[in-house]
Amino acid sequence: MRKTLADIKRMKVEGRKISMLTAYDASMSRLMSGCGVDMLLVGDSLGMVMLGYETTVPVSMDEMIHHSRAVRRGAPDSFVVGDMPFGSYQTGERDAVINGTRFLKEADCDAVKLEGGHAVCPVVKALVTAGVPVVAHIGLTPQTASQLGGYKVQGKDIEDGARLVEEAKALESAGAFAVILECIPDKLAEVITETIAIPTIGIGAGVYCDGQVLVINDMLGMFDKFTPKFVKKYANLAPLIKTAVTQYDLEVKNGSYPTADHSFTSDVDYRAALLN
Ligand code: KIV
Ligand code: NA
Repeated sequence: MRKTLADIKRMKVEGRKISMLTAYDASMSRLMSGCGVDMLLVGDSLGMVMLGYETTVPVSMDEMIHHSRAVRRGAPDSFVVGDMPFGSYQTGERDAVINGTRFLKEADCDAVKLEGGHAVCPVVKALVTAGVPVVAHIGLTPQTASQLGGYKVQGKDIEDGARLVEEAKALESAGAFAVILECIPDKLAEVITETIAIPTIGIGAGVYCDGQVLVINDMLGMFDKFTPKFVKKYANLAPLIKTAVTQYDLEVKNGSYPTADHSFTSDVDYRAALLN
């Protein structure tokens, strides 16, 4: 059965950890559903992971909807969060509601996620008022990483830590039902987690968060360009995939695939009947 917002919020109250992973297509979400994961996130990281963009900035609403629909088809019973792409909520509350509601109407998402602190609070409020549950996202926010000086740990001094605590409180007040904490020191995440009543979901934010999220391709070891410090590889699929593809190529070319076992047969003498 699909989890509800109340189920997710109750997990913090009861001290049960929340697990979240990204998913980008139906084949993966089908495999993932039934593994116990509480929320699937159709992250705009799909731009880099699935579409080959250098950053998440170019990802469009239509691309997000396309992938969110696929994830939903593969996992009809999962709680699915759609990530609002850069440009889909920065232009004001009206655009944010138009785009946010698309995730629910067109892709049957349960909630949306967006990046930012005080600047996005009016947009969070507008979405929640319109009936779109919102996950906030602070710390390292990839859509605006260039303004943060690149993909760097945030909140490393007291001033920046205090800013992040204030942002988390403001986002809670604006109506967000959870907040992603990305790349911040673990003890700062602990303070934020104790300060707000809504669940914190960490990525590179240590063990004290109420939950964790990872990019599925990273934790499966499918993305072998580089591995951020916070990623644990629960599998190492990249070499398995490369070995399988190399072996297939070899066997096709040397004629050892397919064999009779992989072939359809018939008693008809096609050669006698059809060749001259
Ligand atoms: O797009 C994404 O995958 C994310 C998570 C890493 C939080 O925003
Ligand atoms: Na994202």
